[in-house]
Amino acid sequence: MKVTVVGAGNVGSTCANVIAHRELVNEVILLDIKEGTAEGKSLDMWQTSPINLYDTRIKGSTNDYSATANSDVVVITSGLPRKPGMSRDDLIATNAGIVRSVTENIIKYSPNTIIIVVSNPLDVMTYCAYLTAGIDSKRVFGMAGILDTARYRAFLAEALNTSPKDIQAVLMGGHGDTMVPLPRYTTVAGIPVTELIAADKLNAIVERTKVGGGELVNLMGTSAWYAPGAAAAQMVEAIVRDQKRIFPCCALLNGEYGLKDIYLGVPVKLGKNGIEEIIELKLNAAEKDLLSKSAVSVKEVMNVLDGMNQPVK
Ligand code: NAI
Ligand code: 2OP
Repeated sequence: MKVTVVGAGNVGSTCANVIAHRELVNEVILLDIKEGTAEGKSLDMWQTSPINLYDTRIKGSTNDYSATANSDVVVITSGLPRKPGMSRDDLIATNAGIVRSVTENIIKYSPNTIIIVVSNPLDVMTYCAYLTAGIDSKRVFGMAGILDTARYRAFLAEALNTSPKDIQAVLMGGHGDTMVPLPRYTTVAGIPVTELIAADKLNAIVERTKVGGGELVNLMGTSAWYAPGAAAAQMVEAIVRDQKRIFPCCALLNGEYGLKDIYLGVPVKLGKNGIEEIIELKLNAAEKDLLSKSAVSVKEVMNVLDGMNQPVK
């Protein structure tokens, strides 16, 4: 199988590295617009294969989409990252243009591919890729929920002094400060988290998760890449191995949760066909309220995109 990662920056190169290192597919193409970057990083990664003992072939390309032909999955990470003081939404104008042109090229060479969008603002960039690609929304979705949930799970593991492996959680809504972590659906080896941690401590972790991306931007001067790259690779794995895993992903809603024509984070089943099911949780009134507030905030950014005359196919 073949996977293309567009954008050989921090997130894209990390994602390609994880995919290769874990031998998820036979071939990974890393593509970037910046001359030589993808080739150089691919060569460097390929030279780790005798050390890390894998044989997935990684090849770089400077904007030559013929190299991406017949990809089974494409991960789009191209675009500007956040700098301190910027919100994800500040990136919209530049990144919408990038995501649109990348998607056109990808679909031209891989009409049957599945597209995972990572570029920010995530929910709206995924919507933009879907409009441009003109394919079933089951084959165009975004990565954010796995990352946001991983942050939440990591914070909980630290607070409870337990293995992060045992913490299961789901988080919904947009990839922004209005995201909706769901303590009611959080367990530690099957034990409801609320039985293990005081409400005020749990609430502090929820609040830290919501601004988890910004915390890293402030520390590093740019946004995170290890966890985002690994999260996108985990989605690739679920698809290429047809694992039917349940993850929070950014999916097009068509009436689910009472929402329509919006890309938003919800639990889905991922397999070889992409999104094979959107799972509808029975949210309580407070959770529903948080989700609809998050949807309103994503819609506000979507309206900016509509104003940019994106093609609706
Ligand atoms: P980066 O600046 O390290 O890499 C971006 C790469 O995209 C650069 O190498 C650049 O040359 C390339 N690029 C720009 N225009 C291109 C085009 N038209 N075609 C091909 N390549 C192009 O940025 P980083 O840190 O890798 O972040 C990438 C994107 O992912 C950003 O928009 C960031 O906000 C987003 N992000 C999203 C996350 C999520 O949870 N969904 C998490 C982390 C980052
Ligand atoms: C993150 O959550 C900024 O979306 C990026 O790390």
